[in-house]
Amino acid sequence: MSENLKKEIPDIPTIFVIFGITGDLARRKLIPALLDLYGKGFLPKRFSLVGFSRRTFSEEEFKNLLREYINDKNHSYNEKLVEEFIENSSYLQGFFDSEDGYKSLQKRLEEIDIGFGQCSNKLFYLAVPPSQYETIFKGIGKSELNKPCDDNTGWTRILVEKPFGNNTDTAIKLDKMLGKIFDEEQIFRIDHYLAKEALQNIMVFRFANGMFEPIWNRNHINSVHILFHEAEGLRTRGAFYDSVGLLRDVGQNHMLAMLSHVAMEEPKFLTAYYVRPERAKVLGALKKIKSSAIENQVIRGQYEGFQGEEGVAEGSETETFFSLKAYINNSRWRGVPFYMKSGKGLGNEKMEINVHFGMRNQRELSKYDCKGGCKCNVLTFRIQPNEGISISFWVKRPGFENEVESKRLNFSYEESGFGSMIPDAYERVLFDCIIGEQTLFSSTDEVKNSWKFITPILERWTKTPLHKYKKGSDGPVSKLF
Ligand code: BG6
Repeated sequence: MSENLKKEIPDIPTIFVIFGITGDLARRKLIPALLDLYGKGFLPKRFSLVGFSRRTFSEEEFKNLLREYINDKNHSYNEKLVEEFIENSSYLQGFFDSEDGYKSLQKRLEEIDIGFGQCSNKLFYLAVPPSQYETIFKGIGKSELNKPCDDNTGWTRILVEKPFGNNTDTAIKLDKMLGKIFDEEQIFRIDHYLAKEALQNIMVFRFANGMFEPIWNRNHINSVHILFHEAEGLRTRGAFYDSVGLLRDVGQNHMLAMLSHVAMEEPKFLTAYYVRPERAKVLGALKKIKSSAIENQVIRGQYEGFQGEEGVAEGSETETFFSLKAYINNSRWRGVPFYMKSGKGLGNEKMEINVHFGMRNQRELSKYDCKGGCKCNVLTFRIQPNEGISISFWVKRPGFENEVESKRLNFSYEESGFGSMIPDAYERVLFDCIIGEQTLFSSTDEVKNSWKFITPILERWTKTPLHKYKKGSDGPVSKLF
């Protein structure tokens, strides 16, 4: 991040309250990201972290837990810096559904403010399963923790993880409830894929390079393939996962965020005010999949052994794989299939988007001797790993004949020296929330529109078979593409 951005960091002490500090997200992403921000000087100079959770820990046990989280990751910070970071942290045991918990939290925040000698900024991070959101919103509202302690200095903001809701109705209900407690400028709905560097680059690639706009449409693009293949299984998240499933976990949010970047119209300016409505508009144009089309447009699967994972119910029918075919009902994309495919426990980890351009017709191509058959040009955005962009094209194989071969033009962040500059998406999420920048967070309309596309699938696809696949494979044998 640029040093210039440091000027945006509030010179007001800031308290980060993490609900669900003992969970997988806090361990793997939040604490390492906060430490990174601290190490780079991107946290407010005076900050405090309060972990709030159900378990009982002494202060020392909690600090040891943070040390464990930090040591799980490779980092290059010296012990002094790590200990300074940990010294700014404290733990509070409490139940999300008990008034006493929020009262104790209020008291703890007041004590910290007294230590700072002023009313500080408060950032509440909900790193808990979605089933807890409603309870915590109510708890925060009732105890008036949503209100800043001073009208002029400290702000209060809330960060909510995805999936936001369970379907269209619950998402709308949850959003209404949240809207009664916080103003929209205080709400940061997270989809950390929006904060992935390589995803943001899609907009720049499309709109800053004038050569793509004339061909970025149904006349030149045959299909778009969005892949979200994960090698890992569930880690410690069996129970959470079983209650949510893959379509809600990554389809409704991360993959639709990927789709929106490829398909959206150019925003007038790159600010939240202009970018979020464009993302929302294209999601709103997704054609609902009809019941009669479910079998042809959607496949769901489960890896063998899923039902024996810790936390997963016996006989569970939760999907760990899906592929689907979507269409966008607007003049740019009408008739172009957008394929989405995702799975846990697949052999080949990749999150990428492949844009397939139209083939020249066979008669025109027949004069070239394409090795392996003439195929279309494919533009690939690699979101991770090995972030980059490449395009396949045909070249003449040197020699006396007209043999042509497929090659790739490749831009790799790593090879360009950009690799080490890529911030972790959670660093970006936390930093942007601290400076009050909402572009990389989902708006109400984005959340609503993505659920409107996903909910009919969830309601109908249980009637279709659940295909089994082996861990480490390419997914079920039945495939859409
Ligand atoms: C999370 C999902 O939002 O994103 C996980 O809940 C998934 O199931 C993860 O593994 C992928 O994120 P990343 O940043 O590790 O690619």
